[in-house]
Amino acid sequence: FRMLRWTWRAMYLSAIGGIAYVGYNIWEMRNPHDQPNPDPSKKTLVILGTGWGSVSLLKKLDTENYNVVVVSPRNYFLFTPLLPSCTTGTIEHRSIMEPIRNFLRHKKAAVKYYEAEATKIDYERKVVVINDDSEIKGDVSSTEVPFDMLVVGVGAENATFGIPGVREHGLFLKEVGDAQRIRNRIMDCCETATFKDQDPEEVKRLLHMVVVGGGPTGVEFAGELQDFFNSDLKKWIPDIKENFHVTLVEALPNVLPMFSKQLIDYTEKTFQEETITIRTKTMVKNVTDKYIEAESVGPDGQKQLERIPYGLLVWATGNAVRPVVNDLISQIPAQKNSRRGLAVNEYLVVKGTENVWAVGDCAVANYAPTAQVAAQEGAFLARMFNNMAKTQEIQSQLAELSQAQEVAPTKEARDEIFANIKDLQKRLRRVQSINPFEYSHQGSLAYIGSDKAVADISWFAGNLASGGTITYFFWRSAYLSMCFSTRNRVLVFMDWLKAKVFGRDVSRV
Ligand code: FAD
Ligand code: NAI
Repeated sequence: FRMLRWTWRAMYLSAIGGIAYVGYNIWEMRNPHDQPNPDPSKKTLVILGTGWGSVSLLKKLDTENYNVVVVSPRNYFLFTPLLPSCTTGTIEHRSIMEPIRNFLRHKKAAVKYYEAEATKIDYERKVVVINDDSEIKGDVSSTEVPFDMLVVGVGAENATFGIPGVREHGLFLKEVGDAQRIRNRIMDCCETATFKDQDPEEVKRLLHMVVVGGGPTGVEFAGELQDFFNSDLKKWIPDIKENFHVTLVEALPNVLPMFSKQLIDYTEKTFQEETITIRTKTMVKNVTDKYIEAESVGPDGQKQLERIPYGLLVWATGNAVRPVVNDLISQIPAQKNSRRGLAVNEYLVVKGTENVWAVGDCAVANYAPTAQVAAQEGAFLARMFNNMAKTQEIQSQLAELSQAQEVAPTKEARDEIFANIKDLQKRLRRVQSINPFEYSHQGSLAYIGSDKAVADISWFAGNLASGGTITYFFWRSAYLSMCFSTRNRVLVFMDWLKAKVFGRDVSRV
């Protein structure tokens, strides 16, 4: 009984501790301290983008050391791993967005933020041309931002490989707006399919949901969409039950090429059970408003071209380089062979430059374009910049001490200064010894629908591959803990609960 009483007490105390901790976090978040203004006499560090790479850099950067300016057309950070859940309303988009203003207001020294797109980086003149592309424009909507140091973290855009019709008729899945468009289009297809006197063939077409690209984006979206149909759509709109169908089209022989063979097989088997059709070795060549044209290899090994009618087309075939990055590449002779982004060295310096760094999907450092890589690169740059500032501070202290030593009146004073110089030199060596960036892969996770996920986790020296419902709970808890803020965590948790209790919202806005 005594044991039980103590256990209860411990649980009670830890619950109170937990609530107090969350409460304090919320209070801190709501009540930012005053910040010193950016110091224009310090070096100007311009950071482009508010995605995984740039925000991870900003998180760890001591902003007192630089005059920091952030430029991005998106005034929030987006937790992309949960974006596929926003296409069906499992999670509301604002739950995975963190306003950049809130975040920057908590930095030690103030940071300037401009909601704008960098349209040109003029490397020679050390300026970035920025353009306000939002609806409301002031008298000035385009100007220049000078920099001493520049970090390019603008991510990538959607690859279409120049396939005709993709931009006009397909929907992408990269931004919040994309997820909202998909959510609306799903509902529009369902409502239009049930329109009075609709032809049966047209009903079939409208309810055919085609996803092109069997990478993790395509697979996760297909899984979410089938979940939406199974748990909600077919209950509220029974008329669509017979014809609603999801097809995933992939050019390669299998989906999820970055996962182990066992998990690829598991995913394909799960999709089969969920009645999602996977069309591998099928390359889309052309897109019209009502069908896609795809080339596939038949059982006889012959290539065949077929027309696949669709109502919704989601295009998820990976990344392409943004124009502003291509333009910078063209200005730097050392980048002339860069095709997939800015080639960087082991310290993430853009090759051929001294004061430009690149992180995330726009940088080519021989790692996959993932949030994990971008976040680690951003954190590495923050450490490096903090150390660079410390180095400068120590070097100026050393210069002052050397001067003082020369004019010191007594031997004792000279010896004391000498000892201080020795200490500082030791500190300088420590601060300057930064190892090159090395990516540490924690593993890959993907949701595949019907409360199942797959995970390839790095485990000591090896790899642990698992798939199923337990992995799904791991996927959920991992992403919940990785959310940007306590606010995001609470909102995502409530959304999951809401979807379980009340189902997803099937209205169209
Ligand atoms: P981004 O996060 O894309 O940020 C780029 C930033 O630059 C944005 O703020 C953008 O507005 C801004 N920008 C764009 N153009 C300009 C310009 N001209 N000037 C200034 N700013 C500009 N990775 C994982 O590791 N795990 C996952 O589970 C995962 N899930 C994903 C799910 C989806 C649906 C998607 C699309 C991607 C997912 N990824 C995942 C990949 C991951 O999101 C990217 O690798 C990551 O976002 C790259 O970070 P980044 O900072 O390079 O770019
Ligand atoms: P991807 O590059 O991983 O996959 C795109 C797929 O589209 C490829 O398999 C390719 O063969 C296929 N494809 C290309 N053109 C085609 C065509 N014309 N017809 C048919 N298929 C075609 O792209 P994705 O999924 O958008 O991911 C981008 C990056 O983001 C990747 O690095 C990925 O690892 C990361 N990501 C990670 C996630 C996770 O870890 N859960 C989730 C989503 C993205």
